[in-house]
Amino acid sequence: MITLKVNGKEHELDVTDDMPILWAIRDVVGMTGTKFGCGMALCGACTVHLDGAPIRSCVTPVSAASGKNVTTIESVSDTEIGKRVQDAWIAEEVVQCGYCQSGQIMSAIALLKDKPTPTDADIDSAMSGNICRCGTYVRIRAAIKRAANPVKAEA
Ligand code: FES
Ligand code: FES
Repeated sequence: MITLKVNGKEHELDVTDDMPILWAIRDVVGMTGTKFGCGMALCGACTVHLDGAPIRSCVTPVSAASGKNVTTIESVSDTEIGKRVQDAWIAEEVVQCGYCQSGQIMSAIALLKDKPTPTDADIDSAMSGNICRCGTYVRIRAAIKRAANPVKAEA
């Protein structure tokens, strides 16, 4: 048995140490907001936070989360930054098919925690590992800027 803490809640899981966190949270815990894309750390669709840092959950084993907290898209509105990002995503109408978007949002939140007012270069660098086949990159950048400065965006 492995204890996996997800969004602050501990789950006792009957899984092997090497099961990717993605499968544990989707197939065992039953939280399906985090998506499978490539399974090779190449697309970012599976991005979650491990103790606040963005990771690719498709290639990170549950053993790596021992004693740590996994934060997923399901808890995005629980923090002030997460709520701002969520509101900005809606205001900028970022989403098309939506498949990549949980990963995009988790990467955006990690960026804003690290750099509250990111430059274009900061955004491009932080988001470069998150692929969007619908090409929503321009709106993602606008939403991150809006989330960084919601007052100015509303003016
Ligand atoms: S599914 Fe994990 S990076 Fe693509
Ligand atoms: S919104 Fe469709 S892949 Fe990004």
